[in-house]
Amino acid sequence: MYHLECIECDKTYPASELIHTCVECGGLLEVAYDLDKISVDFVESNQPQSVWKYRALLPFPADFKPVTIQEGGTPLYKLDTLAKTIGATNVYVKHEGLNPTGSFKDRGMTVGVSKAVELGMTTVACASTGNTSASLAIYGAKAQIPAVVLLPEGKVALGKVAQALMHGAKVLSVRGNFDDALALVRQLCDSEGFYLLNSINPFRLEGQKTIAFEVAESLGWKAPDVLVLPVGNAGNISAIYKGFKELKALGIIDSIPRMCGIQAEGAAPIVEAFNKTKNMIQPEMNPETIATAIRIGNPVNAAKALRALYESGGTAISVTDEQIVDAQIKLARLEGIGVEPASATSVAGLIKLMENGTIKRDEVAVCITTGHLLKDPEEVIRMCEPPIVVDATVESITKAVFG
Ligand SMILES: Cc1ncc(COP(=O)(O)O)c(C=O)c1O
Ligand SMILES: [Zn+2]
Repeated sequence: MYHLECIECDKTYPASELIHTCVECGGLLEVAYDLDKISVDFVESNQPQSVWKYRALLPFPADFKPVTIQEGGTPLYKLDTLAKTIGATNVYVKHEGLNPTGSFKDRGMTVGVSKAVELGMTTVACASTGNTSASLAIYGAKAQIPAVVLLPEGKVALGKVAQALMHGAKVLSVRGNFDDALALVRQLCDSEGFYLLNSINPFRLEGQKTIAFEVAESLGWKAPDVLVLPVGNAGNISAIYKGFKELKALGIIDSIPRMCGIQAEGAAPIVEAFNKTKNMIQPEMNPETIATAIRIGNPVNAAKALRALYESGGTAISVTDEQIVDAQIKLARLEGIGVEPASATSVAGLIKLMENGTIKRDEVAVCITTGHLLKDPEEVIRMCEPPIVVDATVESITKAVFG
């Protein structure tokens, strides 16, 4: 029913093969299904949304028991006050920050760690800008498999480090950036036989594609006109695009959204490639942005992501740190949606794309907010006015409230 397939030369491999890239050409791999033989029972089902609701399109035998802590089923909010301020009428936010560890990574990890169990792997590992490590730590704990995580020293938001530590991962702080940590963990997995759970692992992306399924289902099995999301290592944009493509191939939806990838100005190699060099990525050697989750200079899934952008008629743009923070505050104060900086890039990007006419004000646009506000409390404390200290008297309090 499913196998691995190289996106460059189409060579196929059994799903049980322990490889990260095509042995023939080095291309990225993806999971391919024999769609003719699959019965998509979830379309008629009244079951609540969750990653495993869509298991007909996940790469496991029907009787396999997954490692799960109830991921997915996140809300799709229709924006109200914020939408009015930009003159938009059909903008939605899918808040992936409401997954078990507070980010969309849980969708990938429930599938990825389940695959590690199925394959009999004894240690799981990843490099991470933070959220992947938090997620791997929790699923490693649930499966009782040791997890090793490599983080760029001093560049990971506090909440994410706390999660990785508390759930019992072996946390290593690498003197280098994320791209260095990823290169190292790939070597470590090759030499030690650890199971690599970065987004180069195609099974992880299978879990993440369920974002597309939930968006389409929430809109009455229809695709939005555009889907806007932050891009770092470029796994999520590739996964969500694949999800929409599968629904279309199965005749469940009749269109695919224009995929719009948003990067931070100081870490925008996909935007550069999209606008200048087409399929050639020129790595950004010193990526820098307040959105530490997407502080990535050499995105490993670039080939898949660029395909998603070109084939869907989408676009890739960058936004400044100021625009990111502005969108984060607007989401928090106009809509009651608390997100970390990287997540706010989607909304900052949407605003820019509506202002320049790339997205029309009445189009159905879905922004993905990828991680929760509490992931990065230090940045919030730096940004906001501190609490006002008052005496324990009503007089002092009313004076502070009314100025
Ligand atoms: C909050 C958040 N948003 C976006 C991303 C980027 O996702 P991807 O690397 O799949 O492009 C990450 C990745 O770490 C993240 O943690
Ligand atoms: Zn190949």
